[in-house]
Amino acid sequence: MSDGRLWGGRFADESAEAFHRLNASLAVDRRLWPQDVAASRAHARMLGEQGIISADDARQIDGGLQRIAAELEAGDFAFLPGDEDIHTAVERRLTELVGDSGRRLHTARSRNDQIVTDTLMYLRERAALQAGMLRELGEVLLRGAEAHLDTLLPGYTHGQRAQPVRLAHHLLAYVWMLGRDRRRLANVVSACEECPLGSGALAGVGFPVDRHAVAHELGFARPSANSIDAVSSRDALLDYLSFAAQLGVHLSRLGAEVVIWAGDETRFVTLDDAYASGSSMLPHKKNPDAAELARAKAPRLAADLGGLLGVLAGLPLAYNKDLQEDKVFLFDAVDTVELLLPAVAGTMATLQFRVAEMAAAAGEGALAAIDLADHLVREGWPFRRAHEAVGALVRACEERGISLADAGPSELGAAGLGDVSVPQLSAEGSVEAKAVPGGTARAQVLDQLEAARALVASW
Ligand code: ARG
Repeated sequence: MSDGRLWGGRFADESAEAFHRLNASLAVDRRLWPQDVAASRAHARMLGEQGIISADDARQIDGGLQRIAAELEAGDFAFLPGDEDIHTAVERRLTELVGDSGRRLHTARSRNDQIVTDTLMYLRERAALQAGMLRELGEVLLRGAEAHLDTLLPGYTHGQRAQPVRLAHHLLAYVWMLGRDRRRLANVVSACEECPLGSGALAGVGFPVDRHAVAHELGFARPSANSIDAVSSRDALLDYLSFAAQLGVHLSRLGAEVVIWAGDETRFVTLDDAYASGSSMLPHKKNPDAAELARAKAPRLAADLGGLLGVLAGLPLAYNKDLQEDKVFLFDAVDTVELLLPAVAGTMATLQFRVAEMAAAAGEGALAAIDLADHLVREGWPFRRAHEAVGALVRACEERGISLADAGPSELGAAGLGDVSVPQLSAEGSVEAKAVPGGTARAQVLDQLEAARALVASW
């Protein structure tokens, strides 16, 4: 080994500085040290038990690795400029500590099976943590829905007020989105079940390693079935990045709504001071920064997915150094999701819904137009004729600057509805009329709430 490189023997000359800087991944992969040390301990123990290295070497290695873990934990592990990646740093230090025993650790192993093992272990750990974060956000939304079963607000299509809905119904829409995200996250965990160790560089290893023992000790369900696939595949990372990209879209849409709701055009919510910020110039401002950033992180998460797809597409088997770029995208997404979820949960948990403003907006204008058309249909009108007549009535009301509910004989006459008995139109009547499963009537939303509670409890 020359100048700390794990592969120096074949080389007469040292690496160029510019090459080393490009090639080194320590700055990115050093966070994998807990997984790297754990996987090395399992590997060394197995090598000892299989008689591939001596029991004494295995003991020395284990002691050295425990000390390295303590140094890394305490932050006093001295990384050297020549440490190419976390594997190199750990093995270099191990050799400093236990000499030739340390030089036996890499028997029957390659960094190619090592890095993907570390990454899968890391990923399943973050997935478990993020499942808890999803659950927290789900619970916040559920609590909001429980508190606002009887709060009405306008639902929008095309950015225009379309029909009154229950706020509970609207908030629950996000719970179902998160439910699908949670399912995708569970798929990520399943994709992390197979242990690559024993695959070596690509073909398997030339010693009687016990792949099952190592796999089980490290919490995998089984060893991977194909060594070439094991060192080349980044499917679990793609699954995670797909999860993160879609979650990002969902949180972005929620963020966008909070921005609109907190804006002066609706004033549907008041943001808590803890999740808003001020303007450095305009003293009166209280800006929805958390919601805006939630809105803006989605493209970054999508880019992480796109980035790794780009690295993998067209890449021949098996390991190629291109694959080292995988962690740049993965870690960026992991960090972004872990920043976002608690901030969005906090924003939603502390949001004050301005019930009166919402109700007033839900009752105004022509939001019950469909309910009048439905009434005419029940009286025997063909829907298309009812639609046209009510449309004419809306136009007449608009011209006179009155709300549909206040239409009088002259507007009704103008719309050809002079001899029709018009029912009292209200937002409350409108939501109660949507009594289909999945609709916004109270009984339906109560059913939905119960199903959503069971869903979130399963996360
Ligand atoms: N740092 C590398 C990575 O992240 C580890 C594997 C290196 N393997 C190799 N043959 N150079 O992918």
